Amino acid sequence: MSAERFTDVRSLLTAFARTMNLINPEIENHHQQTAYLSYMLAYQMGLRDRSLENCVYAALLHDIGSVMLEGKTSVIEIESDAGRISQLSAQMLEDIPGLSGTAEIISICQSSWKDIQFLLSAGRLSSRDCALAASAIHMADAISTMLCEDIPVLQQRRAMIKNAQLLKGREFAEETVDALEQLADREFVWLDLKYNPQFLMIFTGEIRYLSLDRTVELTRIMSRVIDYRSSFTAMHSAGVAAAAVKLAELSGMTPEECKMMRIAGNLHDIGKLTTPKEILEKPGKLTDDEFDVIKEHPYFTRLTLMNINGFDRIGDWAGCHHEKLNGRGYPFKFGAERLDKGSRIVAIADIFSAITEVRPYRDGMKKPEAIKVLEQNAASGATCPELTKLLVDNYDIIDKAREAESAEAGKRFFESLQK
Ligand SMILES: [Fe+2]
Ligand SMILES: [Fe+2]
Repeated sequence: MSAERFTDVRSLLTAFARTMNLINPEIENHHQQTAYLSYMLAYQMGLRDRSLENCVYAALLHDIGSVMLEGKTSVIEIESDAGRISQLSAQMLEDIPGLSGTAEIISICQSSWKDIQFLLSAGRLSSRDCALAASAIHMADAISTMLCEDIPVLQQRRAMIKNAQLLKGREFAEETVDALEQLADREFVWLDLKYNPQFLMIFTGEIRYLSLDRTVELTRIMSRVIDYRSSFTAMHSAGVAAAAVKLAELSGMTPEECKMMRIAGNLHDIGKLTTPKEILEKPGKLTDDEFDVIKEHPYFTRLTLMNINGFDRIGDWAGCHHEKLNGRGYPFKFGAERLDKGSRIVAIADIFSAITEVRPYRDGMKKPEAIKVLEQNAASGATCPELTKLLVDNYDIIDKAREAESAEAGKRFFESLQK
C-alpha cells in the first residue's frame, strides 16, 4: 500500500475492538454489541456519513478510560462508574486530531436526555446529531448490559422496548425510542446483537482508505490505552518510539519507514494490556511463573497489529522486540536470518529505554554503564552489533530525544490524573 492509502477504516476499527478486548477480556462482546446497536439506532434516526462514523467510534471507545481505573473488569463494575469512565475516555481522545467529535459524544453518552437537551439549548453542543448519537449509545449500552445469556434473545426484546418507552423523553431521546420500536420486528438485528455483532461489515461497506499520516494519528488512541495504564509504561513507550525513530533515520530508512517506526515503537508493548498490573509494576526480580506471564505480551502485540491491513511490517517490528539474533529471545524464537532491520531497531530501542529510564524504585543508568550493557548485549549475540555501534556513536542525540519525549509523556499522564 502507498502512504496515501496506507490502511483502511474497517481494519483500524477491528484493531480498536481487539484493544478493548485486551483491556477487559471478561466483557469481550460488550463493546462490539454497543457499537452494533448504536449504529442501527443512529442509522434509523437518520444519521449519516461523519455523524454516523463518530457515533460508531464513540460507541466502541466509550469505556476506554476504564484502563485508568484498576480492577474495573466486569460490565456491572464499569456501569456503576460509567459517568466517570466516559469523562476519562473523552479526555483521552479530545486532543487527537479528527477525534474531537467522537470525544464530544463520549463525554455525554452516559447523561440523561434531559441533561443533553439542556446542553443543546444552552449552545454547549456542536450539533443535534451529536446529541442523538449519545442517546443511541446510552440506549445500546443499557441493552447490551441487560441482555440475558440464558433467555432466547427474541423473547427479550419486548421487555427492552417496554423499559425504553417508560424512559422516553427523560433518559432517552424520543427519536431513539422510536428507532428502537422500528427495529423490534427485525429479528436479525437481535440475533446479530447476540451472536454476531459485526458492526464493521455493515458500517464500512465500501473500503475507506487512510493515509499513513492519519494512521499515525489514529493509532495514538491505542498508545494512549497502554500509556494510561501506568506512569512508567507511558514514559517507556514514548522513549522507545523516540529512540527507534532516531535509529531509523540514522540508519537510512525512508521518511515513510520512520513514520511506521513511530507506530511500532508506540505500540510495541500493547500486548501488556493482558499482563496483570502487579506483575507489570513489581519492583523486584520476577519469579519464573511471573516471567511466563510477561512472555505473552509480544505475542499479543503481534496478534493485534498483524491483523491490520498494511501493518505487516509494523506488526513484525513491534512483535519481535524480545527476539534475539541468536534465537534465544521470546516468544517466536526467530534468529538473525528472520529478524530484519526494523525488528532489530525496536529491540535495541527497547533495551536502551528500559535501562536508561527512571523507575519509581531505581534511577536510570548513566551513559558509561548503559553503553557497557548495550555492547555486552551485542557481544553475546542478542542484538545487532552495527545498530548498537550506531546508537553508541550517536548516544547523546538519541538519549536527548528519548528523554524529552518520555518526559512529555510522563507530564501528560500526571496532568490527566489531576483532572
Ligand atoms: Fe516488551
Ligand atoms: Fe518495552
